[in-house]
Amino acid sequence: MLVISVSSLKGGVGKTSVALGLASAAHNRGIPTLVIDMDPQADASTGLDVPVTTPLDIADVLSAPKEKIIRQAIVPSGWSGSAQGLLDVIPGSPRSAEFDRPTLSERFLRRLRDALATIEDDYRLVIIDCPPSMNGLTRAAWLASQRVAVVTEPGLFSVAAADRALRAIAELRRRGAPDLQPLGLIANRVRMKSREHGFRIDEMREMFGPLVLTPPIGERTVLQQAQGSARPIHSWPGESASELAGSFDSLLDRALRTSTIRSRSQSRSGAQAHDGEVVADAAAESPAGEPSAVNAESAVQAPENGAPVVPETAPQADAAPITGPQSGVTQSGVTQAEAPVEGAPGLRRRDLR
Ligand SMILES: Nc1ncnc2c1ncn2[C@@H]1O[C@H](COP(=O)(O)OP(=O)(O)OP(=O)(O)O)[C@@H](O)[C@H]1O
Ligand SMILES: [Mg+2]
Repeated sequence: MLVISVSSLKGGVGKTSVALGLASAAHNRGIPTLVIDMDPQADASTGLDVPVTTPLDIADVLSAPKEKIIRQAIVPSGWSGSAQGLLDVIPGSPRSAEFDRPTLSERFLRRLRDALATIEDDYRLVIIDCPPSMNGLTRAAWLASQRVAVVTEPGLFSVAAADRALRAIAELRRRGAPDLQPLGLIANRVRMKSREHGFRIDEMREMFGPLVLTPPIGERTVLQQAQGSARPIHSWPGESASELAGSFDSLLDRALRTSTIRSRSQSRSGAQAHDGEVVADAAAESPAGEPSAVNAESAVQAPENGAPVVPETAPQADAAPITGPQSGVTQSGVTQAEAPVEGAPGLRRRDLR
């Protein structure tokens, strides 16, 4: 069972849209999938056409992470009719907001992981739609995950938030979630003809190298139409919808390759394999012939901060607080010490032309 959290520490960038797009791709391919709606807004549940009230929901699972409770909380999505086991959902709940606090016990944070362990064999893929904060709900989701897909828009503030998310993943990885890795950054709502968007995508590639997943997701009204009808994008007619569906197919392929690479490298070198995982994923995804901002070998040595390479001479990114830079802030708001790729300029403010 591969568990992926879809996250961003910024609101409205498309987390739920990406979670639904991946769910649509998995459903279209017949992969047994469970979507967990961790966001008290419960948008993913709405998009998956789940009844507004269900007997149990995610708040109940977090209150009592027992097999009986999680099984009762699981409902089939409206996308798959009443057939259970194809695309199922643990619906979100406004009641889960009470858990979204900055301080919660380690025991609480492991509850989702413990609950999922009891249904390990039921699904090949679990997609967790996270709220836009780094409080209890997101941390519980990440502790239950092997991968975090960080969603971002091609704008200065969103890219800065993505950088913070990668650092937060690294922090949690060091503090008790050794299997956790970023799947990568998914750029959403990209307007291919926008110069600003092109600039930001290039900047992301400079900063994060192959962690920037391809393809980016274009901004398309049809996505909103499909969501508004609570239908999967794969079932929506028209060229725009099939183009988006194809993008989500590629991202799903990438996510599933993660688990293949993982089991292969684990069988090769046992527990040691984890440190190379993200790099193996990233290198595998780097488009052929496209210059990569990092060299895979150095990335193997320093994948820990979620970004590929930290210059050896720079202060360790480990020291950076999860909430962002406190000192040495450049004009763009990113410290030089934090610049994740040697020679990368960090976020740049564009000159007016
Ligand atoms: N690629 C896209 N093209 C067009 N519209 C999009 C795209 N991605 C997201 N949207 C729209 O942007 C809005 C916000 O998206 P979404 O709800 O997925 O973001 P979110 O990050 O989950 O928000 P929140 O932080 O509130 O949970 C929605 O109306 C959605 O339909
Ligand atoms: Mg959302």
